[in-house]
Amino acid sequence: MSDFGQEVSRRIEAVAHNEPLRVCAGEFLRSSVESQYSYNFAWMSRPIIQYPQDMVAVQELIWSVRPDLVIETGIAHGGSLILSASMLALLDMADAIEAGTTIDPAVSQRKVLGIDIDIRAHNRAAIEAHPMASRIEMIEGSSVATEVVEHVRTIASGYQRVLVCLDSNHTHEHVLAELEAYAPLVSVGSYCIVFDTLVEDMPSDAYPARPWGPGDNPKTAVWKYLETHSEFEICKDIQNKLLITVAPDGYLKRIG
Ligand SMILES: C[S@@+](CC[C@H](N)C(=O)[O-])C[C@H]1O[C@@H](n2cnc3c(N)ncnc32)[C@H](O)[C@@H]1O
Repeated sequence: MSDFGQEVSRRIEAVAHNEPLRVCAGEFLRSSVESQYSYNFAWMSRPIIQYPQDMVAVQELIWSVRPDLVIETGIAHGGSLILSASMLALLDMADAIEAGTTIDPAVSQRKVLGIDIDIRAHNRAAIEAHPMASRIEMIEGSSVATEVVEHVRTIASGYQRVLVCLDSNHTHEHVLAELEAYAPLVSVGSYCIVFDTLVEDMPSDAYPARPWGPGDNPKTAVWKYLETHSEFEICKDIQNKLLITVAPDGYLKRIG
């Protein structure tokens, strides 16, 4: 590792024990959840329901893993699909530069596969009209329905390096079922990112209109899943680095 890389690692490690900074970040998270901050952003003009810090982390992970397939549950307006697809386009471009060849921007072996129980017609139309559309395939249905899981498995069998993002229904039961279905598709060295684990750390009245809350959310599902799946580990360095993230204990690396 370079001197600069070592310096960064030491700084991130120090953040884990920097209580005043962690308190500030926690306060920001609580207030920003209340103000629905995550709905304020777009990626290449499509609304994305994420925090900017997590978008940067996704960029770092896609660039380092170099997946040929990204599977995402939870499409909404399509912003996260476009973010992943744009990173795959940059990987294609980097490969071509390295090989000294040119690429047809519309043709790629790399793909983003999105699953949503309700793909609104206007969102589908906007995603299909987007310049990144050739790298995106969408499946409508519940991410835990047997036929959907089978369909995704069949598609994934044609790819070498797979990264998974779970961001649909945030109840414990649903996320645990998604982990059982999709985490096995993650390649060794790649990641399963489980969003909105943050719910566990929020006040119990933070999501009044939702079936999830402290004790019943993606983080409790991750903890349960990891009890029997030592092939994954939580990347604490990512959440320490971000400080502000909706996925604390949600960045899971496949190590075996
Ligand atoms: C938080 S949004 C996804 C945000 C998106 N990943 C982004 O970053 O912009 C959650 C989405 O999950 C979808 N959803 C809810 N229950 C689902 C289920 N059982 N299966 C698949 N998708 C589901 C909703 O329709 C909604 O579009």
